[in-house]
Amino acid sequence: MPQPLDAALTEVRALLLDPSLTRAVAAGRRRGHRPSVERAELRPVALKGGPRLQIATSDGARPYTRNVAAGAEADAAVDALLAEPFGNWHVETTDVTLQLRVTKSGEAQVHRSAATRPPVEPGGHDRAKEWLLDPGDEIFTEIGGSAAKRRQVDAFLRALAATLPDDLTGRLRVVDLGCGNAYLTFAAYRYLSQRGLDVRLVGVDVREDQRRRNTELAERLGWADRVSFVAGTIADAVVEPAPDLVLALHACDTATDEALARAVRWGARWVLAAPCCHHDLAAQLRARPAPAPYELLTRHGILRERFADVLTDSLRAALLRLHGYRTEVVEFVDSRHTPRNLLIRARRVEATPGSATGSATDDEQRAQYRALLDQWQVTPRLETLLADAPG
Ligand SMILES: C[S@@+](CC[C@H](N)C(=O)[O-])C[C@H]1O[C@@H](n2cnc3c(N)ncnc32)[C@H](O)[C@@H]1O
Repeated sequence: MPQPLDAALTEVRALLLDPSLTRAVAAGRRRGHRPSVERAELRPVALKGGPRLQIATSDGARPYTRNVAAGAEADAAVDALLAEPFGNWHVETTDVTLQLRVTKSGEAQVHRSAATRPPVEPGGHDRAKEWLLDPGDEIFTEIGGSAAKRRQVDAFLRALAATLPDDLTGRLRVVDLGCGNAYLTFAAYRYLSQRGLDVRLVGVDVREDQRRRNTELAERLGWADRVSFVAGTIADAVVEPAPDLVLALHACDTATDEALARAVRWGARWVLAAPCCHHDLAAQLRARPAPAPYELLTRHGILRERFADVLTDSLRAALLRLHGYRTEVVEFVDSRHTPRNLLIRARRVEATPGSATGSATDDEQRAQYRALLDQWQVTPRLETLLADAPG
C-alpha cells in the first residue's frame, strides 16, 4: 500500500541516524526530477577520531566521499540527502531492511523485512568475509541467480580484484561479452563502482530478449545511464568507445575465441575469460589420427575431449602472449561450483613485445606455437580470428 512520502522519509531518517545502521543507498530519480548526485551510499565507519557516518556520492563523473560526525553534522548531511528527489532508498540496520520506492504519483511504496544476515558456517564463523560482494546487497534481490552462480560470480570478481592495480582511479570502460542474464555484468558494476571507479559497462549477448530484460533491470536499479546492453554477436557488436576491460564468463565454445579476438583488436588493458565448452578442436582431433607417439592420448573419447580442452586453452594463452599480453591460466573457483572453472587472465604489456610477455623471446614463442600446430594439424579458431591483427 502506498503511503505519504514525508512520513516514509521520516522513518528513513530515523534509521539513517540510528547506531544500528549498517548501510544505506539512495539512487534513481523521481518522475520529472533529477537529484544533484546520481547515487549516495551511507555506512558507519570507525576512524581514529571516533565513529563517523561515511557518505559516498557520485555525480556520474567522479565519486566523492566524506565522513561526518554524529550530531548536528550527520543530521544536516542526512537531511540534505533526504531532500534530494531520489527514486529509491535502501536502508539496512542490524534488525531491519527497508526499501522505499517513490511511485509515479509521488507516494512511497515501502517494504520492510527482517535484516538479511549472511549465512553462518556450522563452526560459527561469519561467512560474509568469504564474499567480495555483500550477500545482503540489494542488487541480488533484483538480479536473482542460484547460489552456485553467485559463488561463481563472486570468485570471478575476486580474480578481477587481483588483476586491476590497487591505485586505479577514474573512468573504466568495461564490456561483458556473452553476458546472458547479466548476473556478472551487474555484480561487476557494483564491485567496480564500490571501488570508487567511474564505470561504464556494456553487456553484449546475441539474444534480443536478454537485451530487453537486462535493460529493464538496469533501469530498475537506477543504473541505465552507466550499464547498457547490446544485442549482437561478440564478433560484430558495436561497442564504442573501446573498453579497457573485457570480461567473458562461459561464452559458449568459440564465442570465447571471439571475445579474446575482440579484446586484442580493441587493445583492452585487461581480459578475463572463463571458457565454456570446447567443441572446435575436439572435432578437428576426431577428424584425423593423432601424430606419433601420441595416439594413446586421443584413443578414448573422454580423454580426447579433455585433451582438446587443454590444447585449446594452451593455444589461446599462447596467442594472447604473441599479441602482447602477459597471460595466466588459473582456476578461479572450486570445481564444486562449476566444472568450467578455468580462467584465462591477460594484461596488456606496455613494453616492447617479447621483452615482458614471458621468458622466451617472441620468435621462440612463435616457433613453439607453430610446432605444436604443425604436429597436431589443427587450426584454433582464435588464430583465424586474429589472422590480420598486428601481433
Ligand atoms: C552459458 S551462457 C553464460 C551467460 C553469462 N555470461 C553467465 O555466466 O551467466 C552463454 C551466453 O553467451 C551468449 N552467446 C553465445 N555465443 C554468442 C556470440 N557468438 N555472440 C554473442 N553472444 C553469444 C548466449 O546467448 C548465452 O547467453
